[in-house]
Amino acid sequence: MSIERTEEETVAFTVEDGIAWVRFNRPEKRNSMSPKLNRQMMRVLDALEFRDDVAVLVLTGEGTAWSAGMDLQEYFRDTEALGLAGTRGAQRESYGWWRRLRWYQKPTIAMVNGWCFGGGYGPLFACDLAFAADEAQFGLSEINWGILPGGGATKVAVELLSFRRAMYHAMMGETIDGRTAAEWGLVNESLPLADLKARVTAVAQVLAKKNPVALKATKDAVRRVGVMTYDEAEDYLIRAQEAANSYDNEGRKEGIRQFIDDKSYKPGLGAYDKTKTRG
Ligand code: COA
Repeated sequence: MSIERTEEETVAFTVEDGIAWVRFNRPEKRNSMSPKLNRQMMRVLDALEFRDDVAVLVLTGEGTAWSAGMDLQEYFRDTEALGLAGTRGAQRESYGWWRRLRWYQKPTIAMVNGWCFGGGYGPLFACDLAFAADEAQFGLSEINWGILPGGGATKVAVELLSFRRAMYHAMMGETIDGRTAAEWGLVNESLPLADLKARVTAVAQVLAKKNPVALKATKDAVRRVGVMTYDEAEDYLIRAQEAANSYDNEGRKEGIRQFIDDKSYKPGLGAYDKTKTRG
């Protein structure tokens, strides 16, 4: 289909009730990631990251795809034609926004509505949580067109799947549906497409009520400690909490106060009311 999108049109977004809904917006190309899309996605992430009206970011796709991975024409063939500088430039742009998303200030959720292939595993892993439609299809298709799963995709498979599953997934180039992706640990949950947005909205609303400084410290800690020894992690977690206190030292005191003094909530069962924080 010959739809010519401007760079700006390759990503769409709306902000509603504290949730930024960011959408890959090249449905006619199954939301494959072109250099234009990669550049625009970085701009959109930049624009949303510190907005006060954004508590949670959801990344999803227009049409039948979440993302069919890298655009074989525009990302591979066209940039290779420009030589090494073209290839490296395109890699920087795509890896750049995935890295930005991995360490994003706000909690992030991948809402995988359809196809998710190859390079799509970069942003999938970059999101803190992932929910898929049962109908979605995931695949490391690289082997089917003659390359290895690059752009971090092999790393994502090994991080999230067992060794045997990662190996099978990467070598066979078969798709798995959303349910299998959840069973394998590639996503948190899978549910019928018709119910997906409601579930993601409910999760986002829960996150939006938590202390945002604690959330950022927590999500970074989960990503960081994996490669640390126990002692290093123990030390890192002390330092990370103390650093978080320099941004918000009242929230945790309020959390204790509402439980111990007010008896207005139970931390085991939900979050304190951050709107009542003093100081
Ligand atoms: N790169 C470039 N173009 C892509 C693309 C990709 N990764 N994925 C889809 N498209 C384009 C197709 O070329 C086609 O363009 P056209 O209409 O100009 O001919 C259009 O998107 C629709 O694709 P089509 O294959 O007809 O859609 P489908 O719904 O029947 O199948 C897929 C969807 C995702 C299964 C199929 O498009 C596909 O296998 N894509 C490649 C997936 C892949 O290997 N990605 C890994 C890259 S790292």
